[in-house]
Amino acid sequence: MIDEKLDTVRLQNLAYGYRQSATLLAAIEIDIFSKISAGARTVDTIARAADITALNAERMLAACAALGLVVKDGENYSNASDVERFLVKSAKSFVGPWLTTMGRSDYGAWNRLGEYLRSKKPPRILGVYESYTVEDARKLHAATFSIGMGAGRRFARLCDLSRRKLILDLGGGSGCYCICAAQKYPQIRGVVFDLPSVAVVAREYIAHNGFSDRITAQGGDFTKDDFPPGADVVILASNLPQYSPEIIRRVVKRAFEALDAGGEMHVIGEMLNNDRTGPIGPALWALNEAIYGSTGVAHSERDTMTYLEDAGFIEVTATDFIPGSLTRVTGYKPPR
Ligand SMILES: C[S@@+](CC[C@H](N)C(=O)[O-])C[C@H]1O[C@@H](n2cnc3c(N)ncnc32)[C@H](O)[C@@H]1O
Repeated sequence: MIDEKLDTVRLQNLAYGYRQSATLLAAIEIDIFSKISAGARTVDTIARAADITALNAERMLAACAALGLVVKDGENYSNASDVERFLVKSAKSFVGPWLTTMGRSDYGAWNRLGEYLRSKKPPRILGVYESYTVEDARKLHAATFSIGMGAGRRFARLCDLSRRKLILDLGGGSGCYCICAAQKYPQIRGVVFDLPSVAVVAREYIAHNGFSDRITAQGGDFTKDDFPPGADVVILASNLPQYSPEIIRRVVKRAFEALDAGGEMHVIGEMLNNDRTGPIGPALWALNEAIYGSTGVAHSERDTMTYLEDAGFIEVTATDFIPGSLTRVTGYKPPR
């Protein structure tokens, strides 16, 4: 029996989903949202402010309204609340460079996803990071720093580090978690452990933020190199989908061994729910790894908790960190 109510609209919207992405990235690029925030409200005033034709402004505003990026009231447009907060250039919370860099970096490759999926080449452990240069790292972390500082501040607010002394941040990137912890807790020190090219860039961010005396950056590969001793907090943030369960399991076990007795570990990352049916972000970050030919897959919250429990951590919990995007799994190394 044919269901007459079925149609192709959902499938069309998915198939042409790249247009949604491109609309958002172009709106950021021509800075429409800042112009609206600064007072341009109608098609004509927005067109003038953004220096595009009224015809193109009308097209963009209709698309942005359909995507829920702007709200139309009569002839006037205003920004949706998340757009007003995160996509207005003058705001401290502006994340435009992060979205445009990350949103565009794999754009062309995703257009050939089917080809990548047919590849039978054996996976490479470091995937995208295999031949990472200082310039690659500088470009990536110029984009991740602002968003990372938001995550770092949240971490420092949620986790009481007032009695901790040393954070080991595995794959710490720009150093944002250590920098935010050092800003909040005057006694805390940190080691950002990242690939050698990234450690160079981490040192730049650490110095720029005035913490070179309390935070160091050490070059190394967390899948195989020894971790520095003496930490009572270990963080592994935004590194899950790039690696297989076996690799993450080993990293967590080695982190457990390196950690002081009574210390704590936080794995923060894109995790699937335990039914492995979503959310979309973690599932698609893992699919992205087909392009980079790594061992990466999506890990569920339960999987991640098991890595910590099997390593010996106790009181392991999973909590939302950024709902719909990042989960935080925390465990404690038993006191001696
Ligand atoms: C998505 S970024 C996250 C950076 C930071 N943790 C944050 O949340 O802002 C992932 C970081 O992990 C680092 N990384 C990935 N694999 C690594 C490895 N095998 N050893 C050391 N660092 C690694 C990358 O260089 C990059 O800086």
